[in-house]
Amino acid sequence: MQYKGNIGLFDSGIGGTSIWKEVVTHLPYENTIYLADSKHAPYGAKSKEEIITLSVKNTEKLIQLGAKIIVVACNTATTNAIDYLRKNYDIPFIGIEPAIKPAALNSKNKTIGILATKGTLNSTLFQDTSEKWTQGTKVIEVIGEGLVPLIEKGDLESTVLKKLLKSYVDPMIAQEIDYLVLGCSHYPYLIPLLTELLPKEVTIIDSGLAVARQTKSVLTEIKALHTATTGNHQLFTNGDPSILEKVLVRFRESVTPPPIITIKKLDF
Ligand code: DGL
Repeated sequence: MQYKGNIGLFDSGIGGTSIWKEVVTHLPYENTIYLADSKHAPYGAKSKEEIITLSVKNTEKLIQLGAKIIVVACNTATTNAIDYLRKNYDIPFIGIEPAIKPAALNSKNKTIGILATKGTLNSTLFQDTSEKWTQGTKVIEVIGEGLVPLIEKGDLESTVLKKLLKSYVDPMIAQEIDYLVLGCSHYPYLIPLLTELLPKEVTIIDSGLAVARQTKSVLTEIKALHTATTGNHQLFTNGDPSILEKVLVRFRESVTPPPIITIKKLDF
């Protein structure tokens, strides 16, 4: 197992940068490598076998680029492929799953909504977790069909996007949810729109911070924390690098001292 090296992360595209930002903020001395597999997005409607094949490809690329740990920054890949990855690669994997446990435990109305991909909602891992933690809670599951392709185009605020999102959350609002779980790492980019659409009593939760904390805890446990003064971050996309640039502008400006970030096109 390789302990010196980078935190590797991958997603079907730009969405996993919502997790990457939490990792960079929480672990500022680590170097990271992020793979945005935009060429194959969306993963959400693909079969389990296809998702495993793509996750294997991304994992091998990250290992080749010097990853010491891999964060599967994609709910669809985690729920469909992480068991396979853990069985076949001698490197620690951190996964991301919809935060239904805290939502169900804290819901006063005992009614929660979850917006995720078809691949995540249909997975055995999600269904088992949901069954375990949501006894006595009504869970309204909605597939966010069409959202990821719009976000992948860099569209975070168009009327088309807002209308589509409204059609997904309105039935949840009608059933008086008090928690909305974002079960796809692309969806934190929709929080500004969701805040406009949802009543203020509804709490939106995602799993980014939990993933960053878990990554730190595993690195501490295996004594693989990096101690550089500033992290160096390389983001690779097989899609359009300008979209990654666009979604990261605000983050780049918000962190002091500014992290060293390079965004490049890569065929993988
Ligand atoms: N961002 C991913 C997730 O968390 C995948 C979305 C997709 O490619 O459909 O599920």
